[in-house]
Amino acid sequence: MMVSLALDSAALAETYDRVSDRQFNHGKLLIEDLQVSQGERVLDVGCGTGRLGAHVAELVGPSGEVVGVDPLPLRVALANSKRGSSFRATVGRAEDLSQFADGSFDVVFLNSVLHWLPEKLGPLREARRVLKRGGRLGISSAAKERPHEVERVLEDVLSSLGLNRTAEASGSTPHKVTSDELTSLLVQAGFPQPKLQIRTFTDHFTDTDDVMAFNLASSFGNFLSNFAPADAERVRAALEAELERRRAPEGIRLQRHLIFAAARADG
Ligand SMILES: C[S@@+](CC[C@H](N)C(=O)[O-])C[C@H]1O[C@@H](n2cnc3c(N)ncnc32)[C@H](O)[C@@H]1O
Repeated sequence: MMVSLALDSAALAETYDRVSDRQFNHGKLLIEDLQVSQGERVLDVGCGTGRLGAHVAELVGPSGEVVGVDPLPLRVALANSKRGSSFRATVGRAEDLSQFADGSFDVVFLNSVLHWLPEKLGPLREARRVLKRGGRLGISSAAKERPHEVERVLEDVLSSLGLNRTAEASGSTPHKVTSDELTSLLVQAGFPQPKLQIRTFTDHFTDTDDVMAFNLASSFGNFLSNFAPADAERVRAALEAELERRRAPEGIRLQRHLIFAAARADG
């Protein structure tokens, strides 16, 4: 599918800021892997509403700096509206980091962003360019070899309804890579010997509306956006039946699997 950057709204941006504990929590693991320390200069590519960036700003302290870029102006505005944070966000895209000088960052990270990018090599080369020699890159991304459980459920629902679309083409992590593909892209982009692992997370949702709201806000309006309203309603109803079968005492239980990659820029 074509990912649209024109479907975001103030309501979706605010919802994302509220419901993105999942991205925030796995993002903190990514930052731990990168061992970000005081005084470092960090670039957060696809920073969204800036929750993780603000956390990293605390780690680098007043002698460091965290800059975020994101193509969605409403999310950038929300990120910048948070007081008391030394994190600053600007509108921009992973494909074009020309607003930043060569070799100007110690750390670059993309948390839950890579699977939104139709082409990866350009953005990874840009990350390499803005990093210092030996600088660290961290990525968390949906894994093509192990899709999120909600995507597999959606896949079954779409085929049972006879809707000729894949879950990937319905705005749920549309541009995933496998671990092998990501390893090879990283090597090509100037990050020799990347370290990759898949981590699994178990989420609980109150109900189907909670699942829908999370996916809609996380996809900045793309989730199921390519269906006519009547078909989207059929998908939602069928999804609800499947999701309710996964209800545990804590809520609807769904697993997510993410590739975590960490690499150093070559010298
Ligand atoms: C699921 S959100 C993750 C936001 C944030 N990194 C976090 O951890 O909460 C995905 C983000 O990727 C951004 N994105 C989409 N296309 C992008 C691109 N071409 N370059 C940079 N960011 C992009 C979206 O605007 C959105 O904010």
